[in-house]
Amino acid sequence: MTAIYMDNAATSFPKPESVYEAVDHFNRYMGGNPGRGSNQQTLEAGSVLLNTRETLARFFNIKDSADIAFTLNITESINTGLKGMLRAGDHVITSSMEHNAVARPLNVLRQHGIEWTQVACSQDGSLDPEDVRRAIKKNTRMICILHASNLTGTIMPIREIGHIARNAGVTFLVDSAQTAGVLPIDVELDNIDILTFTGHKGLLGPQGTGGIYISPRIQVKPLKEGGTGSLSEYLEQPDFMPDILESGTLNTPGIAGLGAGLDFIAEQGLEKIKAREQLLTNQLLDGLQQIPGVTLYGPADSNRRTAVLAFNLDNMDCGELSTYLDYEFGITTRSGLHCSPLAHQTIGTLAQGACRLSPGYFTEHADVIKVLTAIDQLSRRL
Ligand SMILES: Cc1ncc(COP(=O)(O)O)c(C=O)c1O
Repeated sequence: MTAIYMDNAATSFPKPESVYEAVDHFNRYMGGNPGRGSNQQTLEAGSVLLNTRETLARFFNIKDSADIAFTLNITESINTGLKGMLRAGDHVITSSMEHNAVARPLNVLRQHGIEWTQVACSQDGSLDPEDVRRAIKKNTRMICILHASNLTGTIMPIREIGHIARNAGVTFLVDSAQTAGVLPIDVELDNIDILTFTGHKGLLGPQGTGGIYISPRIQVKPLKEGGTGSLSEYLEQPDFMPDILESGTLNTPGIAGLGAGLDFIAEQGLEKIKAREQLLTNQLLDGLQQIPGVTLYGPADSNRRTAVLAFNLDNMDCGELSTYLDYEFGITTRSGLHCSPLAHQTIGTLAQGACRLSPGYFTEHADVIKVLTAIDQLSRRL
């Protein structure tokens, strides 16, 4: 049985064919280590980094692609942004819907004298930008917000918050894990100082790819030091982007794939991708609402959410529900707390958890019907 994949919020699957081809092509026919010497193979490998960096810069409206550093994932990017900037006595503001990629580093930083305010979101995960403004204090150094929740799909008002941050002279960091490749992100219009992204979700690249944009107005300290292929005569880490944040051999095959993912998105168009995901979300929302015993979380209006739907079925254990869907119906979902205990606490499901459906660009309407039929059957069985 071919599984129906409903877990694109964890990682997108399948990838466009061109992504598989780009990874294979790099591994099979290129294979050099960028920046390590000046032989032709190394230079060719370096061009893979440059091309993907430039594509990313166009994608996020970043003026200079050198302000983007590659990382292994957004977790590394977020850690770099937070730990590279915040110091004892600084105050940071987040929403109450953040992923553990933000919450865990901040929990550590709190033990080192950083003050952390979580602005409360409503039960559907919505955040009022005025509440963020009100939370700003004299020592506020950063506002760090996820663009959309990986639990409820709720889209956060990043443009308004970016405006507030810029007016207050506060650094604005955005976690775009659930939106890059689906919703438009413009670092200039959105006043984003630090944009973190992961390559393997909406950007359709392979796992092990991600990155961070740092505005030239600010400087962050690296999490690690090491070989960069530049200034090898010095023991000090280069202090310029992207080398300051790119120690050690990068995932160049993955970055080749990420470049192909970005090209695919550009060919299809962000509007088309968003429209398709919204159609699938509406189909799921409408169908789930008609199934007895289903409790749905997040905004009722699909314009205010991404294609992420968390739900419970009566008082059935969400892990059991996910396992039935997997083993009996061949449907891949994710249950539990989704690395987001703060978000579950906000919407009132910390004890119970939830089952999450996240269709993607390649999901068929027929698949959604099969998912709804399976949940309906389980509901009748209860
Ligand atoms: C909102 C959010 N932030 C951060 C992450 C972490 O992503 P990664 O595992 O690619 O670092 C995720 C992954 O689920 C996420 O949904």
